[in-house]
Amino acid sequence: MFAPSFFRWGYKQVLKPIFFRMDPEVIHDRMLGAGSALGRFGITRWLTSVFFAYQHPMLEQEVLGIRFSNPVGLAGGFDKNGKLADIIPSVGFGFEEIGSITAEPCAGNPKKRLWRLAKLKGLVVNYGLPNKGAEVIAKRLEGKVFRCPIGVNMAKTNSQVCAVDGAGIEDHLKSIRLFKDIGDYDTINVSCPNSFGGQSFQNPEAMDRLLGALDSVQTGKPRFVKVSADLPISEVDAMVTVAEHHNVQGFIISNLTKQYERSGIAQELAKQGITTGGISGKPTQELADNLIAAFYARCGDRFVLIGCGGVFSAEDAYAKIKRGASLVQLITGMIYEGPQLIGEINRGLVKLLKRDGYRNISEAVGVDYRS
Ligand SMILES: Cc1cc2nc3c(=O)[nH]c(=O)nc-3n(C[C@H](O)[C@H](O)[C@H](O)COP(=O)(O)O)c2cc1C
Repeated sequence: MFAPSFFRWGYKQVLKPIFFRMDPEVIHDRMLGAGSALGRFGITRWLTSVFFAYQHPMLEQEVLGIRFSNPVGLAGGFDKNGKLADIIPSVGFGFEEIGSITAEPCAGNPKKRLWRLAKLKGLVVNYGLPNKGAEVIAKRLEGKVFRCPIGVNMAKTNSQVCAVDGAGIEDHLKSIRLFKDIGDYDTINVSCPNSFGGQSFQNPEAMDRLLGALDSVQTGKPRFVKVSADLPISEVDAMVTVAEHHNVQGFIISNLTKQYERSGIAQELAKQGITTGGISGKPTQELADNLIAAFYARCGDRFVLIGCGGVFSAEDAYAKIKRGASLVQLITGMIYEGPQLIGEINRGLVKLLKRDGYRNISEAVGVDYRS
């Protein structure tokens, strides 16, 4: 059973008005607690899937040797410590990215560090990578059998020490070694806008050094690089050229934006006195879509693209897929629309594929640029 209209109504009319009156980080923590509790028991997992998950063979595909039951994943940053893996498929997701995990435990930036931009359907995120650290998380997840594909998103520890290139590389190496046998793919997050030293590894020379060092660790898992929504289109070629020389199979496009001058962001930030942070949600959508198109035009099927940023509907997801994304991820859409959104997107994708005469989601990947 999939009952989207009831849950959409319940979320929008009852839960969301309550949640949106409370501090966003408090709600985030409570959702993590609830999700982790629901994932603990077979009966609660089953009931959740009865109400939320939507399956269809047209959505199943194999990407880089990994079987995905549908193309919609939870993006990195919601489940930083990997506590939700058991409930994620029941909510309807086809995969999950845990993290960002850093080599050392990190408390993140001082609070307050998460805000809503309700008018723009976005969030302002200044978490600064809080997480329990690679050792603790890897120990807990070691040997665990996951019920859906899991990506391990790794970033350099948010500290002054790791802001320096060499220490940042060592930090990444420690995480990737600890997670060698955990999860199905790895993401190297070079685009966190909220940590010491900023996005230093997004610069092609520094990225070359980082990826070169990581090449020495053979994990057998595909490796993705996650890029910023603010990556200039003119730098896509350089980034792909660097990746071509290393053990990289794909890109995640994209992380948050800091272009405050776009789409009235500055005014909305000023209203709440916010002076820092990266923006998620609708303000990232067009930036991410343009970057996906630019990456796909440059590399075609040579790299796998995962599209992320402002996915609030099946149409949003389909637009990213047609531009070249094999898979999509989201966080903010689920917060604004409710957890039934994942099933709604999957159901909507099947309708869109049928309308356009495709038999499987993989046939729609990059069609905007293939004719
Ligand atoms: C609360 C929050 C925390 C995030 N933390 C991370 C993170 O730790 N690592 C990361 O790679 N991206 C992080 N992101 C970025 C998301 O993964 C995603 O790239 C971005 O939010 C755009 O997707 P969305 O519009 O669907 O939220 C975070 C986003 C949000 C909203």
